[in-house]
Amino acid sequence: MSTSFRAREIADNVYWVGAIDWELEEFHGYATPRGTTYNAYLILADKITLIDTVKAKYTDELLARISSVVHPSRIDYIVSNHAEMDHTGALPKLLDIVQPEAVYASPKGVQALELHYGGEMNLVGVKDGDTLSLGNMQLQFMLTSMVHWPDSMFSFLDHGKLLFSNDAFGMHVASSALWADELEPGLIHEETKNYYANILWPTSRAVGKTLKGLEKAGIEPDIILPDHGPGCRKDLDMVLKWYADWSEGVKDPKRAVILFDTMWGSTALMARAIADGLIEGGMNVSMLPMAKTERAHVAMECLDASLLLVGSPTLNGGMFPSIADALTYISGLNPGKPRIKGGVFGSYGWSGGLYKKLAAQLDDMGVDIAQDPQSVQYVPKADDLAACREYGLVLASEE
Ligand code: FEO
Repeated sequence: MSTSFRAREIADNVYWVGAIDWELEEFHGYATPRGTTYNAYLILADKITLIDTVKAKYTDELLARISSVVHPSRIDYIVSNHAEMDHTGALPKLLDIVQPEAVYASPKGVQALELHYGGEMNLVGVKDGDTLSLGNMQLQFMLTSMVHWPDSMFSFLDHGKLLFSNDAFGMHVASSALWADELEPGLIHEETKNYYANILWPTSRAVGKTLKGLEKAGIEPDIILPDHGPGCRKDLDMVLKWYADWSEGVKDPKRAVILFDTMWGSTALMARAIADGLIEGGMNVSMLPMAKTERAHVAMECLDASLLLVGSPTLNGGMFPSIADALTYISGLNPGKPRIKGGVFGSYGWSGGLYKKLAAQLDDMGVDIAQDPQSVQYVPKADDLAACREYGLVLASEE
């Protein structure tokens, strides 16, 4: 076992024993250029307890960090807030060494852990509101189904009012900082939003229910410790407000997203003219050329936009592959709940049938097509671009 890794005290008698993944580039389809962390927390109570583990490849690092504080065999309990393998990959090897009295998880977590790793784990299912005495401290469990998987739950430690929130309130940022307030505020907002859009947006109803559940359970944390990215000890209200707004589908009436690709530059010219009209009409526009935009970034930009415009050249009678990729990805995130406004545009060669189909696809995604599609054969002329500009102006006036 490596001895070069140390635990870091994050609160009184609570240690961060996770792993920093500086190299992660992608998390099931979501680009993560800033990497991530897999946070695990060791509570030195009378009953020594480990909250979550790490991805399998970092098992030895986790064990080394634990060993810098206590021998792993002294751990009494393990709590698994979520069965996904970024938090449980280390569990099988850890169990051989630790042999805890029990592994606590939600009932669906028990099922998921059995399905992932087999059943020899001393698994104990906990119900919403159950408490677990650690002797001089106490944990309270809160089931948070679909934040992010059916099995997900929170654990709240009375000592220091620490909320171990697993995926919720996390972000994919690899950093030596233990706390969000040690990083740039702009980065924190961007990456919290990015994470919400790509991981939690499809289950926003469950997020809203969870926020209300915290109030109902009387859980008022002083510190939130997620399993990805830094912890939050300041500005908790701000982060909770972001989550409340995103989960309720609050949109910025002045934000428009134009995602487009182009074959010979025609659709790009149309996109620029439409953007100019939108800007003239008072909108803030995010232009997303898909030749160089990650689909995860599209999701983040769409999260609070009130207008979505999609531009594609016609290729073999269909849309450009990059546009199909982006739409397939974001349609799974339920971008049209609640419904927003949008439009489609693009250039074609000999068949202009794509744009009605594209409009119908957006409508299925929950995007109301406010105006007829703008399409141009081959190359837009000055009057075509003037029409695109007017199109943008009209869409802006409807916001
Ligand atoms: Fe970080 Fe749903 O796993």
